[in-house]
Amino acid sequence: MRITYRLVTAICLAMLVVVGGFTFLQIREERTRLVRDLERRAALLGEGLKEAVDPVMGGRSTAPIERILKRFGRPNQVIAVYDQLANPIAVVPDSVGPRAVAIPEITESLAMDAIRYGFRVIDGRPVYVYATPIDRNERPIGALAVILDASQLAAAERALWRQNALRFVVLAVVLSGITVLLLRLSVTRPMAKMAEWTKALKTGRAGPPPEAADAGLFGPLALEVSGLARRLYRAQEAAEQEAALRLSGESVWTEERLKQFVNLQVGGPIFVVSNREPVSHVSKDGKIIAQTPASGLVTAMDPVLRACGGVWVAHGSGNADRETADERGRLGVPVDDPRYTLRRVWLTPEEEHGYYYSFANEGLWPLCHIVHTRPQFRPEDWEHYKAVNRKFALALIDEMDGVEAPLVLIQDYHFALLPAYVKEARPDARVAIFWHIPWPNFEAFGICPWQPEILQSMLGADLIGFHTQYHCNNFLETVERAIECRVDWEHFSVTRGQRVTHVKPFPISVAPEPLDVPVSTRAEVLAGLGLSSIEFLGVGVERVDYTKGLVERFRALERFFERYPEYRGRVTFVQVASPSRSLIKRYQDFQREVEDTVEGINTRLGTKSWKPILYLDRHHDHAEIVPLYRHADFCMVTSLHDGMNLVAKEFVATREDERGVLVLSRFTGAARELTDALIVNPYDLDELAESIRTAVTMPAEEQRIRMVRMRQAVRERNIYWWAGRLLRELSRIPEEALGKLS
Ligand code: F6P
Repeated sequence: MRITYRLVTAICLAMLVVVGGFTFLQIREERTRLVRDLERRAALLGEGLKEAVDPVMGGRSTAPIERILKRFGRPNQVIAVYDQLANPIAVVPDSVGPRAVAIPEITESLAMDAIRYGFRVIDGRPVYVYATPIDRNERPIGALAVILDASQLAAAERALWRQNALRFVVLAVVLSGITVLLLRLSVTRPMAKMAEWTKALKTGRAGPPPEAADAGLFGPLALEVSGLARRLYRAQEAAEQEAALRLSGESVWTEERLKQFVNLQVGGPIFVVSNREPVSHVSKDGKIIAQTPASGLVTAMDPVLRACGGVWVAHGSGNADRETADERGRLGVPVDDPRYTLRRVWLTPEEEHGYYYSFANEGLWPLCHIVHTRPQFRPEDWEHYKAVNRKFALALIDEMDGVEAPLVLIQDYHFALLPAYVKEARPDARVAIFWHIPWPNFEAFGICPWQPEILQSMLGADLIGFHTQYHCNNFLETVERAIECRVDWEHFSVTRGQRVTHVKPFPISVAPEPLDVPVSTRAEVLAGLGLSSIEFLGVGVERVDYTKGLVERFRALERFFERYPEYRGRVTFVQVASPSRSLIKRYQDFQREVEDTVEGINTRLGTKSWKPILYLDRHHDHAEIVPLYRHADFCMVTSLHDGMNLVAKEFVATREDERGVLVLSRFTGAARELTDALIVNPYDLDELAESIRTAVTMPAEEQRIRMVRMRQAVRERNIYWWAGRLLRELSRIPEEALGKLS
């Protein structure tokens, strides 16, 4: 209210000054105009009369003079003739003032024999006096005076003040009204909403900020407030969690524990490099939106960076990425509450094509996954792969400038050459590369024409991580057979010259608590999908990739409905399918194959009101996927070959209700830890179909027992545990064991 009052007062004062100044000027102008008019009229009349009176001046009788004066008489004016001693001879109309008072203009005009004029007050009225001498032989024998009423000058002045005062009042009322209204709509009301929202934030009920009429005014404020509230809430949650864990004597890794560990053991920021960025900005319908890519790597690494802070170097692949980063390609992530730095690296379409689509995903990807897709190795792609690895090395080295003995975590098969490139420039860096996909046996890997260079460069790292011991063994065997080195099978390390590289399993995982996604009811989720009438909901979440066993899964569903027709109309399987690597022909063919399979099954088995498979082929954010996980009766992960598979772990982490069944391919790394899932061979259609039947008929108590054990496994071996082990292993490497490549 006070601000409204102050604003209105300020506006009124400003208007008063403006209107007052304007009135003053207007009056001055009007006065000048009226004075000129009086002067002109008086001069015209005076000189005309003088000519008429002149011949009869000096006569014995004053009657002719009076006659002439009467002829010229008009209201609001007095004309008078005086003798040479300034005594009135004739005054028309006869009035006391001009007779009684000595008017200076008349005496001066006679004395100086010149015209004189000016303003006077005669008879209590303002007048304008014009006096002109009447000469004979160049000497004044009298004077003629024209006295005009000048009271209209003051009247005009008063009228102007009145008019402008009225204008001021009207303007003040209108402007004050508009100001009060605007303040209410744009400030007071949004402020009240913001206050309500911050109150909700304080209690931990996070929600989107209220829509403000003026986003430019309240947007930054909302951003700051929500960031602050989130930080407070997080700190409070972390403290509560830590206290609870201490009470129960558990030593589970949490975000807070990892943060403390990094502070104590690492001391400085950590550096992560991956191809995929944690957030990409894309412009849609004229707006820029932030998207979390469908990537297990991002699901895993983002919580780590949020906990430890640091720099994440990644390919800026979104079409609005440049607009949302600074000139060095840097920005804070998460955008609304920055906790680490993302450094985007820009690639030309040729580089992206040769390095990412071709060498990494048509060469190394099928090489490492045993799914019978022939790898393609082209020399020109290899050149791009090398050049892009160098480009990322330069960006990373730039970021590490000034940081002593930095810790570098290189991610995945896109950067096999990076460890050596980094070590060449920064021998003091502790470098680890984590391979997120399987490592095949030495014969399979031997297909790659550049096997020696790849292995030697990877051994530039101090630590190489895989998900499983089995993949470590495959790698060590490949190295032992392909290049000159000594493999220590007791300690799982490789020695080349003076350098030792440790090779260890680090099964990756997810954050133990699901992301902060608002809770919705099962009925709401089903209604949102248009599936209100179904009894059982199955779910699958994948990139459309030929390693994921999508066709096998759908065929198994088909067989299930054939064998158990009583489930038709009662079970629907929702497949979230994110388009992936769509420029590669194999992926285009596969996408078509998957779509045809779904369509075929739906046409054959579906009815007007029911579809066996609901295929959602677009990018889905976490906020859309988590409700599906929460309410699914079963989740299917049927990869034909997979390093770990984090969908399986995310599904489990989400099930706070301890319900739901996980059907899990034995060819995933996750199957080694989540042994309470229904472990299946995705190539075995009958087994897969039976597992669906087992899932939908599993008693609640059995679901609970299995889910509790799986949740315990994910909770204990969560992503903070993974990062803590990896970082501990890396930071333990003695300084003298680092050093240059030989
Ligand atoms: O599985 C390997 C991997 O890099 C994952 O870490 C990630 O989930 C997936 O591939 C993403 O693929 P892309 O980045 O090519 O979309």
